[in-house]
Amino acid sequence: MNDIRPCSLRNYNTFGIEATAARLVEYDTVEELQTLLDDRKAKGITTPLLHLGGGSNLLFTRARYDDCVFLHSRIRDLHVMEESEDTVCVRVGAGVVWDEWVQYAVERHWYGLENLSNIPGEVGASAVQNIGAYGAEAKDTIVRVDTIDLQTGAPRQFGAEECRYGYRDSIFKHELRGRYAVTHVSFRLTRHFRPQLNYGGIRLALQTRGIREEEITAEALRQTIIDIRRAKLPDPQVMGNAGSFFTNPVVTRSVYERIAQAYPDAPHFDVDNDHVKIPAGWMIEQCGWKGRSLGRAQVYEKQALVLVNLGGACGEDIVRLCEKVQQAVYEKFQIRIEPEVNFIG
Ligand code: EPU
Repeated sequence: MNDIRPCSLRNYNTFGIEATAARLVEYDTVEELQTLLDDRKAKGITTPLLHLGGGSNLLFTRARYDDCVFLHSRIRDLHVMEESEDTVCVRVGAGVVWDEWVQYAVERHWYGLENLSNIPGEVGASAVQNIGAYGAEAKDTIVRVDTIDLQTGAPRQFGAEECRYGYRDSIFKHELRGRYAVTHVSFRLTRHFRPQLNYGGIRLALQTRGIREEEITAEALRQTIIDIRRAKLPDPQVMGNAGSFFTNPVVTRSVYERIAQAYPDAPHFDVDNDHVKIPAGWMIEQCGWKGRSLGRAQVYEKQALVLVNLGGACGEDIVRLCEKVQQAVYEKFQIRIEPEVNFIG
């Protein structure tokens, strides 16, 4: 266990924003977390607990956090729970780095995660956020989420159904927000490689590399996804960011048709008969905000869905830019885009 008081949060957020926590506790096992919670109960301590993951989807909006205790999981075990000729079920610790897990699986010829390569963050948050990219989502392979109730210390397991997964969404972001710490996530992967190449850009990237669809391997697909992401998304080590800052709005078909009249080339994805998803990055670009900055915060020049820290930005700088962009999109399209990133206020 690592109990740091006070603690700089700079290395705990990929935006690279400086903030100070009065206390941050990193625990290595479920038992350590339970002991910490028991101790709080025994002493009647009620300071709010705030659980961090890899810090790749959050924004610290304050300079100091004196009135809460941050938690971070370093549970990093990995066990095969069940195997058959066709599938393998693996239980992975919440503190495992997501992309290390994807690489581990691809190396063992366990398939289903390739399209989620190179996403920053940790396994625990993948089950809260239902991370997604290139036509795949974490929920497609998650079968169970093991948690600890932060109020009582009691373990609780959630089947995938109970997690109520949606686009970048789960029960852990709504009714149960902040209530449970994810300790392990169980994934069911397949031993039969069925490449998913439908998302825009993948087939083109394969062609460019001279890879024929019939002979693609999971390793090659993973590498292709990594290359596409590296070309479009800034490396947080070089330029602080939290990936997509906004979610893509889902609008009714009539709203989409109104936009398509003015912009016949507007990119869009059908969600169901009545709903259409419109890329927020495209709308932001149409508003002329791509590449523009406000103070030390910028709309990334290669992908307008991403806000970046040009160096030395504080949380408020990013919030101000977020609001400007939201306002511009609203004025032009009468659609309100919402942050995907969690504001820690
Ligand atoms: N577009 C623009 N201008 C831009 C950005 C995008 O016109 O500046 C257009 C593109 O040309 C394309 C469409 O918008 O027609 C979609 O763009 P892209 O494929 O880059 O994906 P996205 O919708 O912007 C989503 C995810 C990403 C994920 C990609 C690929 C969300 C919020 N974001 O972005 O996820 O990598 O698809 O699947 O759904 C993340 O969550 O951090 C993330 C990076």
